[in-house]
Amino acid sequence: MSESENTTGLCVEGCEECPDLVASRSRIVNGVGPADADVVFVGEGPGANEDEQGEPFVGRSGDVLNAALADHGLSRGDVRITNCVRCRPPENRDPTDAELANCRPYLDAELEAVAPDVVVALGKVPAQHLLGRDVAVTKEAGTIETVAVGDARLDVLICVHPAATLYDRSQEDTFESAIEKVATIVGAEGGQSS
Ligand code: URA
Repeated sequence: MSESENTTGLCVEGCEECPDLVASRSRIVNGVGPADADVVFVGEGPGANEDEQGEPFVGRSGDVLNAALADHGLSRGDVRITNCVRCRPPENRDPTDAELANCRPYLDAELEAVAPDVVVALGKVPAQHLLGRDVAVTKEAGTIETVAVGDARLDVLICVHPAATLYDRSQEDTFESAIEKVATIVGAEGGQSS
């Protein structure tokens, strides 16, 4: 990953807090995108492609996210993309509560530094992690809740995970509507569906 992609100075290096993740990862996958982005997308954790390439959302989920951004006048380079945990869990299992807690200071520091207009929680794990409560993602997608992150108060938009649209076509509209809302919040122009 190049320096220009990680301008916040919040690159995590050499963390060994989570034994399972240290064993399963090839590398730490830090967030990418502008340090002053208006929107930060937060996923669950790196998968195989992300672990290999060292960048969040570069596999099929990333393709879905990139396409939805483009449909609504945004490009991947305009936004910041990060994850709740920065190391690939073994066999892509969900991160444990302990792993989420260990990585939380890095996520909070990144969100506080970027101070975006909106944080998009991509799927159940990030939504519950950021909001600190149970979330029915499909039902609550598109809703916004304000949370304290360090000294900041940030608006969190609940969104279905882009991968959900790949195995359940009925999630496509829900995902697109949430991205459309993001584009409206950040004042993106030129979208095809707005
Ligand atoms: N899914 C995630 O939640 N994060 C990624 O980086 C890739 C896929």
